[in-house]
Amino acid sequence: MKAPLTYVFFLLLISCSSTCESSTLEDTCKSFAAGHPSIGYSYCVKTFHADSRSATADSRGLAAIAAKIAEANANGTARRIAALRASEEDSRRQERLGVCAEVYSDAVDQLGEAAEDIARGEDKSTRDALTRLSAALDAPGTCEDAFGEADDTSPLLAEDAEFRKLATIALAVAASLLPPPSTLTKCL
Ligand SMILES: *[C@@H]1O[C@H](CO)[C@@H](O)[C@H](O)[C@H]1NC(C)=O
Repeated sequence: MKAPLTYVFFLLLISCSSTCESSTLEDTCKSFAAGHPSIGYSYCVKTFHADSRSATADSRGLAAIAAKIAEANANGTARRIAALRASEEDSRRQERLGVCAEVYSDAVDQLGEAAEDIARGEDKSTRDALTRLSAALDAPGTCEDAFGEADDTSPLLAEDAEFRKLATIALAVAASLLPPPSTLTKCL
């Protein structure tokens, strides 16, 4: 019985090496989850699975993909806001939705530019990307505040929460591309 078992073991090992291998994606999501336990590892991996290029991308590629995934999500939310506005009869509520429409439209632009900055591959362009990603990350809070300040229930609570998670992933993965600040100058 020993030989067949060994054979099965090697078969498993071989099939595993193509699918269970630790990848850049897994490493990236592991370190993301360590810093953001409330969003977590499986949400991170699931997010990247929306783009098949994630499986073979390096960490810079993953950062650009994360920005594009957040951009696509912001596009979807912008469309939803436009639909809500079109059917809203209360003018004050229309105005609140207008705030959300504006910040999500800006976020789409910022995320698109951030993805290009990341792809450029320089430290300077990566820092520009971080500025744009941080600005995009403010969109859901600004949108929620427009409703919160008016004591009105936001119709975009779920969208805002989802986008916040996606933008957080994009920002964190892009931030990890920069070299850690040098401690050498402090020691000298
Ligand atoms: C978002 O929408 C803009 C404008 O419609 C479009 O150009 C862009 O490709 C979309 N981005 C994504 C990632 O779907």
